[in-house]
Amino acid sequence: MNNSIAGFSKFTKEEKINWIANEYFTNPQEAIAIIKQYWNSNEAVQKLHDEFIENTISNFYLPMGIAPNFLVNGKYYTIPMVIEESSVVAAAAKSAKFWSTRGGFKATVLSSEKIGQVHFIYKGEFEKLEIFFKTIKTKFYSETESITKNMQKRGGGILDIELRNKTTELENYYQLHATFETKDSMGANFINSCLEQFAKTLVEEAQSFEPFSEEEKGIQVVMSILSNYVPNCIVRAEVSCKVEELAEKKIENPDEFAAKFVQAVKIAEIEPYRAVTHNKGIMNGIDAVVLASGNDFRAVEAGVHAYASRKGKYSSLSHAKIENGIFTFWMEIPLALGTVGGLTSLHPLVKMALEILGKPSAHELMQLVAVTGLAQNFAALRSLTTTGIQEGHMKMHINNILNQFQTSDEERVIIKKHFENNTISHAAVVAFIENLRK
Ligand code: MEV
Repeated sequence: MNNSIAGFSKFTKEEKINWIANEYFTNPQEAIAIIKQYWNSNEAVQKLHDEFIENTISNFYLPMGIAPNFLVNGKYYTIPMVIEESSVVAAAAKSAKFWSTRGGFKATVLSSEKIGQVHFIYKGEFEKLEIFFKTIKTKFYSETESITKNMQKRGGGILDIELRNKTTELENYYQLHATFETKDSMGANFINSCLEQFAKTLVEEAQSFEPFSEEEKGIQVVMSILSNYVPNCIVRAEVSCKVEELAEKKIENPDEFAAKFVQAVKIAEIEPYRAVTHNKGIMNGIDAVVLASGNDFRAVEAGVHAYASRKGKYSSLSHAKIENGIFTFWMEIPLALGTVGGLTSLHPLVKMALEILGKPSAHELMQLVAVTGLAQNFAALRSLTTTGIQEGHMKMHINNILNQFQTSDEERVIIKKHFENNTISHAAVVAFIENLRK
C-alpha cells in the first residue's frame, strides 16, 4: 500500500480524518468515532488545541494528578503533575509527606543564565577577526535595542557576547557565544531574535571592515540558535535529617537504610547503566511538573542529560552522604523554565497549574520542579533498597490491567481483596481474572 499523500496540510480537519481512517483502518467509521470521542465539546477549547500544532485531528489526553504536602523552604506547596506512568504521583506524594515531618525540602537557584550562539565560518586571520569583533561589539547591543528594551525593563537582557575560536575542532568555525538573563520567561524567542540580529550585524559590518581581505569580508553564518545546554542556570534541591529520624514503618533500621541508600547513589555516580535509570526516575518528577506548567520538557531533558555527562561520563544527578549522623540527599540540575509567555497564558490547565503552585516566578518554579525530581528519586531509591520497586508499582498498575480486561465493580472488589495478600504480577492478575470468569 502506498500511503503517501500530496497537499495533506491543505485538507480540512474532516478530510484529514477521513483520509487517515480510510487509509489505515479496516473499520474507518470506528476509527473516526474514536478520534472524535476525544474532541472537546466546547468549540473554543477545541479550536485552541487544534491551533497549537499543524494537522491536528484529535487531543491526546495525559492524566493530570496532584501531589500535596510539599514543604519547600518552609512553605507548603501542592504540585500538579502531568504523567501517564502509574505510581509516579503516589510516590511523589509519599516522599513529600515523609520529608514534611523531617524539615522539608530546601531549594535554591544558584544561577539563571541562558546561552545562545551564532555559528559562523570565517576564512582568514583570527587576530583580525578579534579586532573586528571588539570594534563592532557595541553594535550587537545597539542594533538589538528594540528587542531587548522590554526585557531590560524586567531586569533581563543580554549579559555578554564573546567571540569563540573553534577552529581546532572544525576548520574555519567560530562562534558568537552570548549569555542572557530572561527573568520569568524561558526566553527562547527573545534569545533567538537577538541572535538573528547579531548574525545580520556580523555579516553586514564585515562587508565594510577595511582591514579584512575580500575573502575575510565574506563571513558566512551557518545558524543562530539558543542552546538547551544551560550549565549556568542551576537549581539545588536538598533534604537532610538525623539518620535516626529516617525511621518509619518500612525503615526499621535507619542506619542500615541510610548506608544502603548512599551506596545506591554511589553506584549511580560511577555506573552509567544505573545512572540512566536513576536519572530517569528523577525525570519522572521533573517532566511531570514541566509539562503541567507548560514548559518544554524536551529542552529540559536534553539539557539535564548533557549536564549529567559534563565530566565526560554519564553520571547520577543526585548525591547522598552521611556525615556526623546527618543524612543529606541533594541534587543540582540545570533547568531553563518560564512562567510567562508560551503555553503559560494559552492553555487553561497550564494556567490552573501555575495558580495551584501559587503563581511562581521562574526561580520558584525551578525550585519546585527540582524538589519534585528529588522527591521522586528518594521514593524510587527507598523502594529499590527496601521492598523492591514492583510492590508499589504493581499496586498502581493493577488498575491498568483491570481496565484492559474491562472488569466490573464486583470483579474489582474480589480481585483487589485477593491481591492484598498475594504478589501482584501481570500474569498473576490475568490468570486470576480468567479463573474468576470461568
Ligand atoms: C521507573 O519509572 C523509575 C525507576 O526505575 C527509577 C530508578 O530505578 O531509580 C524506578
